[in-house]
Amino acid sequence: MNMMSEAAVEKALDQKMNDASYKMIGKDVSVYYGEKRALFDVNLNVRENTVTALIGPSGCGKSTFLRCLNRMNDTIENCRVTGRITLDTDDIYDQNIDVVELRARVGMVFQKPNPFPKSIYENISYGPRIHGLARNKADMDQIVEASLQRAGLWTEVKDRLHESGTGLSGGQQQRLCIARAVAVSPEVILMDEPCSALDPIATAKVEELIHELRANYTIVIVTHSMQQAARVSQRTAMFHLGQLVEENDTDKMFTNPDDQRTQDYIMGRFG
Ligand SMILES: Nc1ncnc2c1ncn2[C@@H]1O[C@H](COP(=O)(O)OP(=O)(O)OP(=O)(O)O)[C@@H](O)[C@H]1O
Ligand SMILES: [Mg+2]
Repeated sequence: MNMMSEAAVEKALDQKMNDASYKMIGKDVSVYYGEKRALFDVNLNVRENTVTALIGPSGCGKSTFLRCLNRMNDTIENCRVTGRITLDTDDIYDQNIDVVELRARVGMVFQKPNPFPKSIYENISYGPRIHGLARNKADMDQIVEASLQRAGLWTEVKDRLHESGTGLSGGQQQRLCIARAVAVSPEVILMDEPCSALDPIATAKVEELIHELRANYTIVIVTHSMQQAARVSQRTAMFHLGQLVEENDTDKMFTNPDDQRTQDYIMGRFG
């Protein structure tokens, strides 16, 4: 068996990231809510096997941009998106794109843990069932276990799979939601402030998980916490008033950013 040390794995991942295969490319992305423009010609590419953090003051458009990446803005009345976004070579706004399939490829985890009011097992099995990913019960059991393992929740819930998902603690619920996203084998996982409803211990667990998930997925996370962005991401994008101010290596962003506005935000001078 080919065992790589943790450091070697990290190095291999960084190499893969720097080879800059872009998983998603956003070109001149603008978003309007009715008459109001929320994003201005954003050009932002998302690297494969990388955690990209979106930061910036409240109302700057982080969630709006994130929702563009799996067309969640489609569900908002009055919302209009222009520009072009690709996932691998697919234009995700092409009229031939199946949005249900797109959202399986680009999964989402929300700010507040939102498990279905069903058993832990059914929370996970729902997606694979509607996407026809399991041939039989044994297959499904395997997907459920593997997803819970990936989300670092298996040992805590393996003896209560048929109890309600809503009976878990907040941090466990959020990991259940991550397991649910993982269950349909997504390529990209979007997370909008996934830890803001969690205590520090649950937050640390989810952050550790995000770090591990990078090996298999491409992750875009919105966060208000500079510390969190610094801890979990390799790339950081700073938004301000609907514009992308700067996108850079996270290390550089937090030590020597190119833009004064990034500097000011990081120093807590606004936002
Ligand atoms: N459903 C909506 N209808 C109308 N305007 C909206 C809607 N959602 C967001 N906006 C507006 O678009 C702009 C960007 O909002 P967005 O939620 O993307 O910001 P954000 O950076 O995620 O902020 P926060 O950090 O507070 O979550 C804001 O001016 C907001 O008021
Ligand atoms: Mg938001």
